Amino acid sequence: MISKSLNKAINEQINKELFSEYLYLAMSAWFAKENLDGFANWMLVQAQEERFHAMKFFNYVLERGGEVELAAIAKPDKSFKAPLNAFKMAYEHEQFITKSINGLMDLATKEKDYAAKSFLQWYIDEQVEEEATADKIVSQLKMIGDNMHAIFMLDRELGQRTYTPPTTAE
Ligand code: FEO
Repeated sequence: MISKSLNKAINEQINKELFSEYLYLAMSAWFAKENLDGFANWMLVQAQEERFHAMKFFNYVLERGGEVELAAIAKPDKSFKAPLNAFKMAYEHEQFITKSINGLMDLATKEKDYAAKSFLQWYIDEQVEEEATADKIVSQLKMIGDNMHAIFMLDRELGQRTYTPPTTAE
């Protein structure tokens, strides 16, 4: 059985993950409008990952005898001005999510909920990758600057990303 406080905190995290999905969908739409279909594809795959993150929490709450309570999802921005700006925002957002996951781990530790700690470790590890991936693209875009040829090259590369659902969908 999950505690009331951890249940509430995870419900808030479900909302943050669903907002992440929304944010990356909005970014995908913006890139598509800018005719950068590879970037748009990358963001679409990222949005699918966020849905998975949310559903993994959703299923965990139910499995532990808790109650899922869904809240309204905030409206994301719709104009991201430039690829570098969008990826900077993505990187900052992932840092925010990491802090939030760390907060959940702090709570599980305080409550001596070892099952929750084991479950949350997956997200701790996932966030290392989430931050590193966004940060890498920020660095690449900084190097590229206004070089449109290089932007199109990166666009082609990001167009290769595909979504592979993890097999441990609990
Ligand atoms: Fe669900 Fe991008 O962290």
